[in-house]
Amino acid sequence: MALKQVDHGSKEYQQMVKLRDEILRQPLGLSLTVDELNKEKDDILIGAFDDEKILACCILTKADNKSLRLRQMAVQNNQQGKGIGASMLNFAEIIARDKGYKKLIMHARETAVRFYEKLGYKLVGDRFTEVTIPHFIMEKKL
Ligand SMILES: CC(C)(COP(=O)(O)OP(=O)(O)OC[C@H]1O[C@@H](n2cnc3c(N)ncnc32)[C@H](O)[C@@H]1OP(=O)(O)O)[C@@H](O)C(=O)NCCC(=O)NCCS
Repeated sequence: MALKQVDHGSKEYQQMVKLRDEILRQPLGLSLTVDELNKEKDDILIGAFDDEKILACCILTKADNKSLRLRQMAVQNNQQGKGIGASMLNFAEIIARDKGYKKLIMHARETAVRFYEKLGYKLVGDRFTEVTIPHFIMEKKL
């Protein structure tokens, strides 16, 4: 498996968008919008690949000078539970640290809270609804 940063608009980016739509949006009856995709041109886009095939992806978006927001974390359905999500998040944390950021924050789906807790993330505040489902804010000091 290769973990790498992906350029906005590249062939890998198109694979990433398809994966995010399939894993994170279509099950909720939603889809990613052109406006959302245009807004992530300056984000850090990360993918896990096996040969040319995408296995997983996530995004880091600048929140402020010290923090990045982790977004759009998705692993292919038939690749979940094999350690890919944990490896990719570890890679994302290394990139964030290298760039001098001190904290990662996120809106975690309730169903994924235990996954993030295992990787050292802490719950912050109350449950809220986003894209129709329950979420919690979580964060980790880098
Ligand atoms: C949540 C997700 C990113 C985790 O990635 P993954 O590759 O499946 O997880 P890993 O195999 O790296 O798991 C690492 C550890 O977390 C645990 N874990 C993974 N997903 C979990 C979940 N949803 N609930 C509880 N524990 C979970 C694993 O059992 C493993 O535990 P271990 O170290 O004790 O063996 C992935 O399953 C996914 O894309 N799910 C659907 C979309 C989603 O919910 N994205 C997150 C949006 S906030």
